[in-house]
Amino acid sequence: MKGQVLCEKRTASDGSCVAVLTMDNKPVNALSAGVRVGLEKQLQELTADSSVKAAVLSGGPGVFCGGADISEFATGVEGPSLTDIIAAIENSEKPVVAAIDGVSLGGGYEVALGCHWRLASSRAQAGLPEVNLGILPGAGGTQRLPRLIGAEKSVDFICRGTPMKAQKAVQLGLYDQLVDGDYSSLLQAAVEFAAKAAGQDLTLRRLGRGKAKAAELSQKRQEYAKSRKGELAPQAIISCVEAAVAQDFQDAMKVEFSEFCKLMVGPQAQALQYMFFAQRQCQKVPGLDKAAAPGTCGIVGAGLMGSGIAMCCAENGIKVVLLDIDQKNLDRGMTAIKKNYARSVERKSKSQAQVDGLLASITPSTSYDSLGHCDIVVEAVFENMDLKRKIFAELDRVCKPGCVLASNTSGLNIDSIAEATKRPQDVVGCHFFSPANVMPLLENVRGPRTAPQVMAKAMAFGAKLKKVTCLVGNCPGFIANRVMNVSGWTHLIQGGLLPHQIDAAAEAFGMRMGPTRMMDLVGLDLFGRERERKGEQDPDRVVFDAMYKASRFGQKSGKGYYSYDASRRHSRDPEAEALIQQVWKNLGVQPREMSQEEIIDVLYLPVVNEGFKCLEEGMALRASDIDVCCVFGYNWPRYTGGPMKWGFSLGLDQVLAKVEKMGLKPSELLKEGAQKKWRINSKEFNAGVASAWNSRWTSKL
Ligand code: CAA
Repeated sequence: MKGQVLCEKRTASDGSCVAVLTMDNKPVNALSAGVRVGLEKQLQELTADSSVKAAVLSGGPGVFCGGADISEFATGVEGPSLTDIIAAIENSEKPVVAAIDGVSLGGGYEVALGCHWRLASSRAQAGLPEVNLGILPGAGGTQRLPRLIGAEKSVDFICRGTPMKAQKAVQLGLYDQLVDGDYSSLLQAAVEFAAKAAGQDLTLRRLGRGKAKAAELSQKRQEYAKSRKGELAPQAIISCVEAAVAQDFQDAMKVEFSEFCKLMVGPQAQALQYMFFAQRQCQKVPGLDKAAAPGTCGIVGAGLMGSGIAMCCAENGIKVVLLDIDQKNLDRGMTAIKKNYARSVERKSKSQAQVDGLLASITPSTSYDSLGHCDIVVEAVFENMDLKRKIFAELDRVCKPGCVLASNTSGLNIDSIAEATKRPQDVVGCHFFSPANVMPLLENVRGPRTAPQVMAKAMAFGAKLKKVTCLVGNCPGFIANRVMNVSGWTHLIQGGLLPHQIDAAAEAFGMRMGPTRMMDLVGLDLFGRERERKGEQDPDRVVFDAMYKASRFGQKSGKGYYSYDASRRHSRDPEAEALIQQVWKNLGVQPREMSQEEIIDVLYLPVVNEGFKCLEEGMALRASDIDVCCVFGYNWPRYTGGPMKWGFSLGLDQVLAKVEKMGLKPSELLKEGAQKKWRINSKEFNAGVASAWNSRWTSKL
């Protein structure tokens, strides 16, 4: 059984004996069965031992408790229930004081709510992030919190799911008192506090009684239906908080239990819990050693991407040399950075002193020689192979031995770029998503000649930048762009559906923005010019070409597939639709109606098929890595678990049949999976994927 609870007896200054109970389950003191059994046993001993007057509950230095053990959810939770343990803490006749250092999250914060007082160090954080796992705080959290801080504030705190730092948490009433100093000062203060509280009437300190103060929450329902569109948990949370207002504690707990159970067995909870582990797993690459993160980063190109990467580095303690050989471009890039930070000061998300520090850590330069001391250099110029090769030859000349030479290309061949240097083993792709200082994903692209220790340094770079960092193979578009670019959008728009029909289906599926609106946002001119330059004639791009020729470039020109007002709000545009209808006429296509499900199949089953191709080619290490790339790079709805998890949930035989019906060439791995009825993360599937990966890479690790 994982975890335990340690007990040490301490004598307070008034001579009374206080039991210090410490949850012990590394790394985050999750409430695994061993911890729950330990708590139950220690609470019984607390009651039985008349020499002990009070208790302090802690998690040791650095972390109080990260909540219920999420890995137990899939296998089934055994042992005493957290709800009963929290009730036992709360009903103890002897005071129990929580001493919180580090995070107190989910079930961990619910345990703290069961304690009679909550003392916290300045490193403490309170949070009920269950909503991000598709569930709700199901051990009384939706009931005790409204009785402590009120219904409206509770709804916001639980539905946002964002942890709150100690000082703010004290202001909101989540903690009773802040204690200065380190963990031992906190523990000492908690022992003294508990000793003084011994013998007091604890009735008013018990949150599990009566009702919460009346509040009207219908507004909150609408607010969270919008801000957490498509998610079931926020609405269930509001129902529980409504029950806290309307019903006595025990009855309201029944509502919480029922809502919790409904969510827990649903597909959203399963997908979000899968995502929790997927996000952490993708950063782990078998065979790669740990490497030190770079301290100084050179960035070549001061455009939107380069300046975004520069901000991202500066904000995470990496010194930057921002290089552009054109002084005007450099000035423009630095001005954009300064403007961005000025807005942060206005919004009070950063102080002027912080911004001054960040700007001081970015050195603008027009000379390659200034990159000589950098540990990593990221090239971030526009997508032109000749230009990139020239830059890499120059980097080869000036960079110190061991410097990682990275390209931010979003799809060009890393190997061809590496050929321009005498050190191809030092060349990797670091594919940031725009805007680089906002988007959480970093794809680290491994070229065929990239050395493992260079790859390890690139992974450490991503971790230092706090990006969700995924190692991907060197193929056109890498992972996120490659799989998302095969979506069946052209098939639909040239097959008789108008932009609003396609986008409505995609947005109802959970995409933040339908694919047509997304294209308008990115701008049609970007691809249009490139296609013009290459003289490409693509029968699948006839609608696109018609838009481009009509100078309908998207949001930036006020019109694209939609028209846009001054606030960039989109609306259907008869002119654009007439252009599309003209294309249909030329192609002999009739307008069509399709169900939401049919549209989603055409849009996204090709993405699943392409994901399988990435796996069989050894371009992705795991199916969940592809999901992570799509969720964090393309805002694919997290609560479906990403395209691969979604595909598996439909059944691979269904996916295969539909992919074949669409006339697409199915992946061999998909065929095998459909025939063998693989489930995601099943042993057989993982073995199939691992063998494809190993045959491409292991010999080189
Ligand atoms: N259960 C099981 N494992 C957990 C866990 C949890 N609640 N929280 C973290 N872990 C594991 C991670 O999977 C990771 O494992 P590996 O090293 O094997 O990958 C390890 O602990 C360290 O986690 P992180 O890499 O995330 O470390 P961090 O220091 O960056 O962050 C954290 C620590 C802030 C606690 C973060 O892990 C986190 O947010 N955890 C989830 C918190 C949460 O959602 N709690 C609610 C659980 S549900 C609940 O409590 C329901 C209820 O009401 C009954």
